[in-house]
Amino acid sequence: MSMADSSAGELTIRRLTHFDPATLKALVEYGRSALHESALDEWMLPVIASCGLLYVGKIGEEIIGAAEVIRCIEDPDLYLEGFYIRPDYQRRGLGAKLLAGVMGLLFHERFTRLLVTLAPENEAGLRLYEKSGFKEIDYLPDRYGPGRHRLLLAADLSNKGDS
Ligand SMILES: CC(C)(COP(=O)(O)OP(=O)(O)OC[C@H]1O[C@@H](n2cnc3c(N)ncnc32)[C@H](O)[C@@H]1OP(=O)(O)O)[C@@H](O)C(=O)NCCC(=O)NCCS
Repeated sequence: MSMADSSAGELTIRRLTHFDPATLKALVEYGRSALHESALDEWMLPVIASCGLLYVGKIGEEIIGAAEVIRCIEDPDLYLEGFYIRPDYQRRGLGAKLLAGVMGLLFHERFTRLLVTLAPENEAGLRLYEKSGFKEIDYLPDRYGPGRHRLLLAADLSNKGDS
């Protein structure tokens, strides 16, 4: 793949295809700090990195957030499996920048649509995704077990995250 890296101000976006044990440990910890039980663990992160697309947002050498993307087999869509900004770095516009940057990179790779599921009560996520051009396309009751309902949102990548 080309266009693996992109910069957006002080935020650098980098695609990781593999990582050392310390980075893996840090990514597991950062994911849990933001996404709790729904975070990917040390068994899945290397799989996403090598078979899917794992992007990290960095400020200097510090990883401040990540986007974990897989490709749907049945159709040409991509699926954003996980997206977060570490709690200490939230509410500074970094989520919007990281998402826009990642969507731009995916568009350059010629992908056309990005899907994501979101808990209806996740106000920060909803605000961020709506701002980034996502629209609700379905409601998935009990998606992740009883009572764990999700909205299914989709974004047209040709808008490159700007809206
Ligand atoms: C969702 C998340 C990535 C947002 O990251 P962030 O860096 O704080 O977001 P930004 O600072 O770029 O803000 C983006 C928009 O969301 C809004 N927002 C951010 N946090 C919010 C909160 N707690 N409540 C309400 N709105 C919020 C911002 O106000 C902003 O909208 P605005 O421009 O109209 O003000 C972050 O809160 C997070 O990692 N949450 C836990 C994981 C998660 O829920 N991920 C998404 C579902 S997979």
